Amino acid sequence: MNEDNISIRLMKAEDFDAVVQVDAKVLQVSRPEYYQMKFEMLFQSESYLPTSLVAEKEGGTVVGFVIGSLYVGEYGIFQDAATLDTIGVDPDYQKMGVGEKLINEFIDHLRKLDVQKIYTLVDWDDIRLINFFSENHFKPSLTINLERRL
Ligand SMILES: CC(C)(COP(=O)(O)OP(=O)(O)OC[C@H]1O[C@@H](n2cnc3c(N)ncnc32)[C@H](O)[C@@H]1OP(=O)(O)O)[C@@H](O)C(=O)NCCC(=O)NCCS
Repeated sequence: MNEDNISIRLMKAEDFDAVVQVDAKVLQVSRPEYYQMKFEMLFQSESYLPTSLVAEKEGGTVVGFVIGSLYVGEYGIFQDAATLDTIGVDPDYQKMGVGEKLINEFIDHLRKLDVQKIYTLVDWDDIRLINFFSENHFKPSLTINLERRL
C-alpha cells in the first residue's frame, strides 16, 4: 500500500462514524461529541463552505481526514482566511504520504476559493505535529495567543 492507492474526496455527513473511528485510533480516546458539534456546523449550517476532506483506500475505507472551516457569512461573502481544525491519519497508514496528500488537496481546494491564508493551532509540546506542519510549509504566526489561567 502506498499513497497512490489513496484517493481524496470531499467529506460527507455519512463519514461521521469513520472519522470518529480514525480519530479514536489516533488519540486512543473516542470524541463523538466533538465531531457531532463539528459535523452539525459543517453540514447543517449554511454559513460554511465545504472544505473538509477524507482520504480513502481502494474499496472506500476512510484512513484519514482533514476538517477545515471557511466561514461564508450571511451575505455569501467569504473570508480570505480559513482554518484547519483537525487532521488525522489512521496509524496503520501513517508515514506513507497520506497526510501530505490531504494537506495538498485541502490547499488546492482553498486556493480555488480565493483563500489567501490558513490558520491552525498546534500544541507547543506536540513536536511531531509541529514538524509535520513545518514540512508542509506552515510557519509560526506573527500574532500570538495570550492566556491567563484562573
Ligand atoms: C500528523 C499526521 C496527520 C501525519 O500523517 P501522515 O499520513 O503520517 O503524514 P505523511 O506520511 O505525509 O508524513 C509524515 C512523515 O512520514 C514521512 N513519509 C511520508 N511518506 C513516507 C514514505 N513513503 N516512507 C517513509 N516515510 C514517509 C514524511 O516525510 C513525514 O516525515 P516527518 O514526520 O519526519 O516530517 C498523523 O501523524 C496524525 O494523524 N497525527 C495525529 C494528529 C493529531 O494529533 N490530530 C489532532 C489535532 S489536529
